[in-house]
Amino acid sequence: MAASSAPGTLFLFGEHAVVYGEPAIPCAIDRRTTVTANQRSDNDIRIDAPALRFDEVTIKYNDGPPTVDIPTGRVRRAIRYVDTAIDHAQAITDSAAGLDITVESDIPIGAGLGSSAAVTVATLDAAVRAYGGAMASTDLAERAYRVESEAQDGEASRAQTYCATMGGAVRIEGEEHEPVTAPELPFVVGYDGGGTDTGDIVAEVRALREKHSFIADTVTAIGDLVRNGETVLATGDTDTLGQLMDINHGLLTALGVSSRSLDALAWTARDAGALGAKLTGAGRGGCIVALDPTDATESALSMSPDCVTAFRANLAATGVNRE
Ligand code: MEV
Repeated sequence: MAASSAPGTLFLFGEHAVVYGEPAIPCAIDRRTTVTANQRSDNDIRIDAPALRFDEVTIKYNDGPPTVDIPTGRVRRAIRYVDTAIDHAQAITDSAAGLDITVESDIPIGAGLGSSAAVTVATLDAAVRAYGGAMASTDLAERAYRVESEAQDGEASRAQTYCATMGGAVRIEGEEHEPVTAPELPFVVGYDGGGTDTGDIVAEVRALREKHSFIADTVTAIGDLVRNGETVLATGDTDTLGQLMDINHGLLTALGVSSRSLDALAWTARDAGALGAKLTGAGRGGCIVALDPTDATESALSMSPDCVTAFRANLAATGVNRE
């Protein structure tokens, strides 16, 4: 049996623009996905994933028998990362045996906190080890990127798979990646309970960029902001980091990836005194991240009708972990 875990990740700066080769700074956080893989004596793949749970199951009581409406699209998409990672693990180790897979996680699914990257990294690592193989971290990060990209029809960057493998704060630009020294960052996360498909949203931004040539300037502006943010990060000036997060949120809104509830959460955080707030990840629903060393933002978000849950998140130094 092999068990591997990988952390969730949030974007301090740079999501979406990173897909076009601009730099981004994702940060690993102290929420994790753990995948256990056990080789079977037949060729079946059995996935037990209590973590891939969705709240929007609706039961309608009509005149006849009740109908159950399950968000099968989201469930299938979530399972696709696991399936694709197993295909790659079998190819890497030249194995065909089946696996019993268990997925446990405390990362909200498809909500901008890198749940897909974490499940991809942890599944790939656990499955390769269950087949008797081993991967160096850099190979794992690169292969996990290929898995995530395949599961998202080519619409992915290396940002979250690399960060989930290596841990800490990292700088990603195209194929380049390096660790970034970050000060204590008082992250607070607000989750609106929603989330959408990353591949679809990335494709919509691409279409917008093709329709309006000036959208390329917004993408470049995000890149400039990230370059600026790196310098500020090194000085530990959290006031300016917060200001840059607000600007980054505005630029993402211009790309069309915010939503009424994400804007409401960002404003709730700012009104409570957060140093800054922005959506994280693909957007259109999911999470915002704010900076606040006090408890004010977390309590304001917890009381907001737009917020399903709010929590403090700490930067996690550990990436993939073999347990
Ligand atoms: C999605 O969580 C982040 C995006 O930048 C896509 C990616 O980097 O793979 C939108």
